Amino acid sequence: MPLKKPFSRKKLWEKNAIASQLQTDFAGIKLENPTVLASGILGTSAEILIRAVKEGGAGAATIKSIGPVEKDGYANPTILEWEHGLINAVGLPSPGYENIEQELAELEKSGIPLIASVYAHDIEEYAKIAAFAAKYKPAMIELNMSCPHSKGEGMPFGIKEDIAGDVVRAVKGAARQIPVMPKLTPQALNIASIASACEKAGADAICAINTLGPGMVINIEARKPMLANKFGGISGPAIKPIALRCVYQIYEAVKIPVLGMGGISNGRDAIEFIQAGATAVGIGSAVHYHGVGVFGKVCREMEQWMEINNIKDIKEIRGVAHG
Ligand SMILES: Cc1cc2nc3c(=O)[nH]c(=O)nc-3n(C[C@H](O)[C@H](O)[C@H](O)COP(=O)(O)O)c2cc1C
Repeated sequence: MPLKKPFSRKKLWEKNAIASQLQTDFAGIKLENPTVLASGILGTSAEILIRAVKEGGAGAATIKSIGPVEKDGYANPTILEWEHGLINAVGLPSPGYENIEQELAELEKSGIPLIASVYAHDIEEYAKIAAFAAKYKPAMIELNMSCPHSKGEGMPFGIKEDIAGDVVRAVKGAARQIPVMPKLTPQALNIASIASACEKAGADAICAINTLGPGMVINIEARKPMLANKFGGISGPAIKPIALRCVYQIYEAVKIPVLGMGGISNGRDAIEFIQAGATAVGIGSAVHYHGVGVFGKVCREMEQWMEINNIKDIKEIRGVAHG
């Protein structure tokens, strides 16, 4: 059901008691707080994405990556919990970009800061889908060039500097005024140099990281892999140290802001990413474990930490781990 009332930042603020010191300018986008719903966690439904911001307290929401054509993805089971996080092989299911018009229009009307995530099979396709998404004036367009379990999509574009740069350049031309943010994989040989190539090509921000993989889990009683696809991307607490290292290295290589993610589930995790150099922090798997209320919870925990440590503005601690 469409949400009729316009989005009220003031009400959200009061409801979640989010401190003004968390307000963040992310590549020109004004966020009430630096937490962002990561792509793929709550799908493409406008109603659910709006709820993540209005009720959950996220500063912005990212839509599940939208691709060129309608696609089912892999057979079930596609998402599993294991001891230290999640493993998924959903296979980038997508309604196809042209079938998502209504959701994008509703998201535009809601006024929430929306990040439109896009994947494709070639550079022209990236540009075509981004141009389509740009018509609905999202706050930003994210380029998924990092999915580790979907054949021929995403990842091949994020592991070579020249190709990553070409994708960004093409999308910048197509997206007109909308800021563009490539989402990178920790599996590139040198993630910092990929980020730097993207910045040179005109990227407005960098998102890091996507899931790590492919990995697998085996059911020893059944004597077979647990995912129908056998292999999938790892997310959640297990990947946090790798994600942090990536953000730290990217921060040293570029001037554009970084959206850091990978295993964040509490305020201390978020502060770690900001100290590594992130301007905003993405939360994915923790929504699966704790529900959309996790954004408000993370913000309150950040605020408490800031109070105890006499930090008046989140900017004061950005990148401080670099000494
Ligand atoms: C079930 C699932 C689906 C995902 N789908 C996408 C996707 O469509 N596009 C994308 O760029 N990343 C996708 N991701 C990656 C997340 O956006 C995020 O980068 C990753 O999970 C690391 O963050 P986390 O540890 O907080 O989950 C997905 C992750 C999960 C667990």
